[in-house]
Amino acid sequence: MRCLVTGGGGFLGSHLAEALLTRGHTVAVVDDLFRGRKANMVDFKAMPDFTFVLGDCSDVEKLEKAEEKMNGVDIIFHLAAINGTRYFHERPDLVIDVNIKTTETVVKFASDKGARLVFTSSPEAFGLQSEMPMGENLDSIFPSPHNHFRHSYGASKYLGEIIVQYAVKERGLDGRIIRPFNGYGPRLMGNEHGQVTAIFLHQCQRGENITLHGDGSQTRCFTWYNDLIDGIISLGELDEGLDGSNLQGASFNIGSTDEVSISRIAELALEVTGADVEIVMTEGHPGDSTRRIPDISAAREALGWASTVDISEGMLRCWEWIQAE
Ligand SMILES: NC(=O)c1ccc[n+]([C@@H]2O[C@H](COP(=O)([O-])OP(=O)(O)OC[C@H]3O[C@@H](n4cnc5c(N)ncnc54)[C@H](O)[C@@H]3O)[C@@H](O)[C@H]2O)c1
Repeated sequence: MRCLVTGGGGFLGSHLAEALLTRGHTVAVVDDLFRGRKANMVDFKAMPDFTFVLGDCSDVEKLEKAEEKMNGVDIIFHLAAINGTRYFHERPDLVIDVNIKTTETVVKFASDKGARLVFTSSPEAFGLQSEMPMGENLDSIFPSPHNHFRHSYGASKYLGEIIVQYAVKERGLDGRIIRPFNGYGPRLMGNEHGQVTAIFLHQCQRGENITLHGDGSQTRCFTWYNDLIDGIISLGELDEGLDGSNLQGASFNIGSTDEVSISRIAELALEVTGADVEIVMTEGHPGDSTRRIPDISAAREALGWASTVDISEGMLRCWEWIQAE
């Protein structure tokens, strides 16, 4: 199939592009490299069935250029977004603007072209959810923006889901939604705009103390990147669910069901790196959810999806990758 991957220079997008190429698909990536990196694409950029288009995917001409390079488009994986907790607080205007505009443009383009669309939403689309594990169709709960802007990202994903579902109903778009839970693995950024597993490992590498936000008792379900990529590709490739279900308009949570505290991640970072540093508490960002656990029963039945890598093993593999870098 001819696959257009928006955000394919980023963490998940670059792994997705690489996996699609390995499976024999033709791939065009559109990325403005806001947070993505050319280095993420170095392993596959020379492959004959790969094209990179530098640019903003809310500009339809960039999507058309990618389509032209492939002589058509069968499926669009829409991953481009502003991600990274610090941006949610410091640049909510940008998060909302980019995440909504890119999704509107990509959804309209997919509808016009009759291409299938897989939209990567997020568990954060459910807001400050207390019901655990999280099912596919929970009501979202967003706190007042009076005190902080944490949910600029989650709300943009919530609206993105509405944009997709509306096009499914009104324009017959074959749109599908997937919500990855805390992906981690090689290529994850470890700077202040990165994600917690990589931030801790990079702090250890630099001999700096590991900084917990709060007491580190908040938990997440960390999911190995390749498991997430398998789920995203299955949702794109299958015409119908393995259980015979209709995938048009369907949404799935994919994530490990092992709940791990952030302080445990800090301990694992110490264990795998052997760094002689302390774990210290800092104030952190407000509005962080205390738990985020997926109900994956629908993904298991329709996509045959399961998480396969334990967090201790995954942290070790991430450390090996950081050292090799
Ligand atoms: N990583 C996770 O655990 C996770 C969890 C839930 C949802 N998601 C979603 O999956 C997608 C990929 O996440 P990621 O972790 O790889 O993030 P990422 O920041 O590494 O990747 C996003 C990519 O989008 C690009 N981008 C941003 N604005 C763009 C624009 N206007 N035009 C073109 N490209 C643009 C960035 O440069 C970047 O390469 C995002 O939509 C994210 O919200 C990720």
